[in-house]
Amino acid sequence: MSGNFTFAMIKPNAFRQNYTGSILAMICEAGFRIQALKTTILNKDEARQFYAIHRSKPFYEDLVTFMSSGPILVMILEKENAVEDFRALIGNTDPSKAEEGTIRKLYARSVRANAIHGSDSDENARIEADFFFSTRERFSWK
Ligand code: CMP
Repeated sequence: MSGNFTFAMIKPNAFRQNYTGSILAMICEAGFRIQALKTTILNKDEARQFYAIHRSKPFYEDLVTFMSSGPILVMILEKENAVEDFRALIGNTDPSKAEEGTIRKLYARSVRANAIHGSDSDENARIEADFFFSTRERFSWK
């Protein structure tokens, strides 16, 4: 059993196509409680920093350009076993491999423009939440 919080981000393609309401409804219906939420926009340096772990990958610069191409919606979500359950809800990184009924199956356009990000570990959830949110913007996860 992992921790009770995860970090998530609705990406520019899904935001632009006005899927945010439908995606948030799926998240809440799956039992996640929204603890912090805001829209923002990353500049290229910030996108590079957020995805620094992928810096050696061939898709890195295209990912940075995409992630800084428009507004995003970032959030902290609470649920038992949050990281694992949220990754099951969003589905495979590659939408052509994503399971039916997952957020990426419904709303992703490509592997890069895959609609939503979810942290892959409790440790990264904390790092990613700290990247976007100050302690006063949070409720129970300080
Ligand atoms: P995300 O879950 O945010 O984590 C890293 C992101 O890199 C991933 O979603 C995709 O947006 C992107 N990504 C991963 N693999 C590829 C790939 N093969 N080609 C292009 N983008 C990718």
